[in-house]
Parts: sequence; structure tokens; C-alpha cells
Amino acid sequence: RRHVLDLDDFSRDEIVEILETTASMKEVLGRPIKQVPALRGKTVVNMFFEDSTRTRISFELAARALSANVVGMTGKGSSVEKGESMIDTVRTLQALGADILVIRHRESGTPYLVSQHFRGSVLNAGDGRHAHPTQALLDMFTIHERLGRLEGLNVVIAGDILHSRVARSNLWGLATMGAKVTLCAPPTLLGPTAYWTATWPNLAISHNLDDCVDGADVIMTLRLQKERQESGLLPSLREYSRLFGVNAARVARAAPHCLVMHPGPMNEGVEIMPDVATSAQSVIEAQVTNGVAVRMALLYRLAEA
Ligand code: CP
Repeated sequence: RRHVLDLDDFSRDEIVEILETTASMKEVLGRPIKQVPALRGKTVVNMFFEDSTRTRISFELAARALSANVVGMTGKGSSVEKGESMIDTVRTLQALGADILVIRHRESGTPYLVSQHFRGSVLNAGDGRHAHPTQALLDMFTIHERLGRLEGLNVVIAGDILHSRVARSNLWGLATMGAKVTLCAPPTLLGPTAYWTATWPNLAISHNLDDCVDGADVIMTLRLQKERQESGLLPSLREYSRLFGVNAARVARAAPHCLVMHPGPMNEGVEIMPDVATSAQSVIEAQVTNGVAVRMALLYRLAEA
């Protein structure tokens, strides 16, 4: 594999291998010297054209832990501001010796365009509402680490599915791994459910969070993407929070071992209540921590390819 653009072309075996490589990388990060020479002499460019804290910093830490040369760029302050096209930007980075491009962009599909004009590897760090494959892999790693399996688990993904690249990539990944996924959202914030249910027999759709959290093994709630809402999609914030907010009463309906997840950043008090976010069942910080090891695993595998 040369690129990681989404999980839609990943097999079960490949996901298992990545999760195993991630466990090895986590061991490296547990050592007193958290660095191995695997990417010595390689150059990784982190192109972040949309805001990010977790993904940008964990990709940087991951590349450094593998001894790569790491360079960061954003739209602001680069020649993109002077009107340089994405294709010319990629050619320029190639001429400067980049081996791996990590890209986040607000437009869905940009990493695919970049991959067509770059001779090295491209890693999608989140494109528009389309895909966030490294987030889904770190989510799957975290679930597997805590619950010991993915197959057969009842995973509820709740909230603003329509705008969520995290939901889409998790749906591909979790369904491929044999989890039973329920997407729960207001009808206006769901997306192409007919296509999804035709694609995955292990997928259910719900508009009632109380019903679908019953006995759940994982509740993954999503950030309400206020910046991407069009008029009429969203009930009032108060109503949304009442109907789709993950609170302690809803978590109590789930299995006793149920994990509460959120990709971050959170709107506390909207899609998740503060006491739930910091409860013993919350693995939100573990998700962030595992992001470094997952990104190390992917950079390592691409550099080997
Ligand atoms: N989950 C996630 O992608 O967070 P950031 O936007 O902070 O990278």
C-alpha cells in the first residue's frame, strides 16, 4: 500500500496487522528513550489546511519518534495564500525532497488529488466530511485494547453523523471488523443511510438514543459541527442536547463495561455531559494517547512499502 486515504479499501487482515504494529509502537513509546531509527533520512511534511490539535501534534510526535525529518505547513503563511495551486504545492514539496505527505483539508477528496501528483506516500489526516482513517484506526485500537475484541461488539455512533468524517471511517473499519454498528442521529443529521444499510448487513439506524444505548459495549459520540450546519438541519441546541446528549443516565443503560468515546474536540454540555467525559468509563484521553502509536504504525508501514 502506498497511501492511506480512507479505510474503504482495507481488508480485515490489513486492519489486524496495523493494530498489531500499533501495539509494538506503543511499547516503543513506553521506553525511557521513545525513539527508533526506522524513518531516519525520510522527510515527512504535515500539511494542515484546517485547524487541528490532536492529529497535527500526534503526527509530528509519531514522525519524530521514528527519527524522520518533520516539517509542518499550513495554508496561512505559505504561497497558497498567494494563489499557488494544490498541485503546484505538491510538486514543490516533492522537489524539496518530501517522502510522505500528511494532509488535512476542509475539502473532501483533497488527499486523493494530492496522491495523484506525488511520487511518495500520502496520509489523509481528515478531509472535509469524507474520511478520517487514522482517527478510526486509533478508535478501533482503543476499543480492542480495552475490550479485547471488535467482532460482535455493539457500537453506537451518536450525533452529527452527516458532517462527520470520523463516523464514516469508523463505519468502514468497524463493519469490516465484524462489529454491530448503530448510527443514531436526528433524521436531518444522518446521511446516505440507504446506501450504508445496503452495504453493511451489520448496521442499524436509529433516531432514539435511549433505545440504542441499551446494552451497548461502546458509545461513541461526535462533535456537533456547528461550523458546517446549514439552516434547518439542527433542532435547537437545547433540544439536541436533551435528545442526543450522552449523559450518565444513558450510560447507565449500556453494558457495565461500556466505553464512552469522543474523537474531540468536545462541545461539553451539548453532545456529551462533562461528568461523563471525565468518568471512569470514558476513554477519551486514551484515544488521544493511542493516536501517536497508530500514526507511527502507519508511517512505518508506508516507509517500508
Ligand atoms: N479528532 C481530531 O481530529 O482532533 P483534531 O481536530 O484536534 O486533530
